[in-house]
Amino acid sequence: MTTPVIMDHPLIQSKLAMLRDKHTSTKEFRELVSEIAMLMCYEATRDFPLTETEIETPLARATFYVMDKKVSIVPILRAGLGMEEGMLAMLPAARVGHIGVFRDPETLKPVEYYCKLPTDVDKSEVIVLDPMLATGGSAAFAISAIKKRGATDIRFMCLVAAPQGIEMLQKEHPDVQIYCGALDEKLNSHGYIVPGLGDAGDRIFGTK
Ligand code: PRP
Ligand code: URA
Repeated sequence: MTTPVIMDHPLIQSKLAMLRDKHTSTKEFRELVSEIAMLMCYEATRDFPLTETEIETPLARATFYVMDKKVSIVPILRAGLGMEEGMLAMLPAARVGHIGVFRDPETLKPVEYYCKLPTDVDKSEVIVLDPMLATGGSAAFAISAIKKRGATDIRFMCLVAAPQGIEMLQKEHPDVQIYCGALDEKLNSHGYIVPGLGDAGDRIFGTK
C-alpha cells in the first residue's frame, strides 16, 4: 500500500486557503483550482521515467533526459474538469479521458454516466483528477472503471481529502499513489469534507 503524498508546499497551502474561503468568487475559485493543479502536477510527476536523448546545443552535442512515456489525465466529471487546464499547462501532450460519476445524494454511492478514455490508456501513465476525496466512493469507482479498460499505472490527485476517502482508496486500490493538497479532519453527516471548501462542482461552475 502506498503512503499518500500531502503537498506541503507554501504556494499550494496559500492558494488552498484562498480556495476554502466562502467569499472567494467563482472566477477566483476556478483560477485557483487550475493553479493548484499545475503546482501539484510538478510534484506528482517527479518520478516519471526519463529516457536518454542526444541534443546538439550551440556549443556541443551531449546526452540529456526527456520524459517519453505517454501520459493520460482523466478528470472525474464534473469537478475534475476544473483541474484539467492546469495539468495540460504542464503536460501539453497528455491525452485526456473523461469519466462521469456523480454521488447519489441519498445513498452517497457513485453512479457512472459517461466514460471515454484514450485508446492507449493501457500504455499510459494515468493521472485521475478530482478536487475532492470524501467517502472515496467516486474515486474508487472511477479508478475501477479505468482499470477495467486496461490501465495499470494510475495515480490519483485531489485538492482536499478526508481520512475516510484515503482509507477507502488505499483498501480498494493499494497500487494507486494518492496526491492531495490537504488532509482534512472529517466528513459531516451529508458526506461533506470539514472544514473542506464546500461543493467543488458548484463552486467551479457557479451552479449554486
Ligand atoms: C463530488 C466530487 C467527487 C465526489 C467526492 O462530486 O467532485 O467526485 O463528490 O465524494 P465521494 O468521495 O464521497 O465520492 P459530485 O458527486 O458532487 O458531482 P459533481 O462533480 O458533478 O458536482
Ligand atoms: N464533494 C464535494 O464537492 N465536496 C465535499 O466536501 C464532498 C464531496
